[in-house]
Amino acid sequence: MADFKLLRNINLAEMTTFKIGGKADYFVNITNSAQLTSVFLWLKESGMPHLIISGGSNTIFDDGTFHGLIIKMDISEFEIIKDTDADVFIRLGSGNNWDEDVEKVVNLGLYGIEALSGIPGSTGASAVQNIGAYGQEVKNTISEVEVFDTKTTQISSLTNAQCKFSYRDSIFKSSQKGRYIITAIVFKLSKQPSSTPKYKDVVNYFKRSGVKSPSIIQIRNAVLDIRKRKFVDPSIAPNAGSFFKNPIVAKEIADNIMLKYPDIKPYPDDTKIFPNPDGTYKIAAGWLIQEAGLKGKELDKVQIDPKHALVLENRGGASQKDLWELIIKVQEDVLSKFGVSLETEPEIIKFPN
Ligand code: EPU
Repeated sequence: MADFKLLRNINLAEMTTFKIGGKADYFVNITNSAQLTSVFLWLKESGMPHLIISGGSNTIFDDGTFHGLIIKMDISEFEIIKDTDADVFIRLGSGNNWDEDVEKVVNLGLYGIEALSGIPGSTGASAVQNIGAYGQEVKNTISEVEVFDTKTTQISSLTNAQCKFSYRDSIFKSSQKGRYIITAIVFKLSKQPSSTPKYKDVVNYFKRSGVKSPSIIQIRNAVLDIRKRKFVDPSIAPNAGSFFKNPIVAKEIADNIMLKYPDIKPYPDDTKIFPNPDGTYKIAAGWLIQEAGLKGKELDKVQIDPKHALVLENRGGASQKDLWELIIKVQEDVLSKFGVSLETEPEIIKFPN
């Protein structure tokens, strides 16, 4: 049995980028998958509940005390496992910092995740969320996800198809929520250049700088630069990145919005309304919140970012209760103005009483 070290009476706010949360009775840092087997044996004996955390950029804890064990996934690994003519397969530990992995992969000249530069969080969380930006989604490069199955307490491997990835979703946060703990991900990255992102922000960036066919490093740097200007650093204003998913709406709702805002053209002419192949539309939640008049809206301890309405922030000392007031305000105002329901993107945790 692998050893593990339990810590007691831990403050949770510092473990997340939103800096909200009470306390937990126990905490363990996991650096190899064998420790999970021992930890789950201990959990079974103690009858205690557990919660998994990694980078903390997409988790908002409850204000009370969690009478259980917080398991922080901190497995680091970077191993090239197969190198073919067209692709390279790399196994990355779930506790790796995502952007450090992107940087390494880009420096190896491997394509597929360069547009996902600068996204905060861990590599394991990238699969839970199926992170996406500037036209790339992580699901398109994931070959396999290695997991600890809490049901069987065995390590196993899930294929890309078994993960059922969709927009900001996977089995890890829906049908199998709580069952699997991601220990590593095998990525299949291409030696062939992917096309330069067609998103307006990126296209304009290269137009301005006069670069015709940017290198992979130039694409990464462009994305980092765009994000830096657009998204506030959580160390300056604690936040969890995009707070709401971009809603998928029926054609009639999108038609109504376009009727009200005739200047707005569907993607690729604009980046507010995206037609989906199935006839539905994805609408930019940040724009809906802005048009509902809430950009920069301040409550006592929380606010909506004045530059990007999709980012909610902790103004200092906020509780989850304070945050909910703002969430509900946003959801109600967007619903009454556009008839669109917004869903939160980060995991907002409620502790059992
Ligand atoms: N917009 C406004 N006002 C705002 C914010 C946005 O009008 O206050 C407009 C923008 O001008 C743009 C549109 O809304 O026309 C979309 O905004 P943006 O391009 O900033 O992207 P997004 O839809 O807000 C999504 C992802 C981001 C990802 C970017 C870039 C979601 C929920 N968010 O944001 O992902 O980086 O696209 O591709 O899918 C994240 O998930 O944490 C995240 C940062």
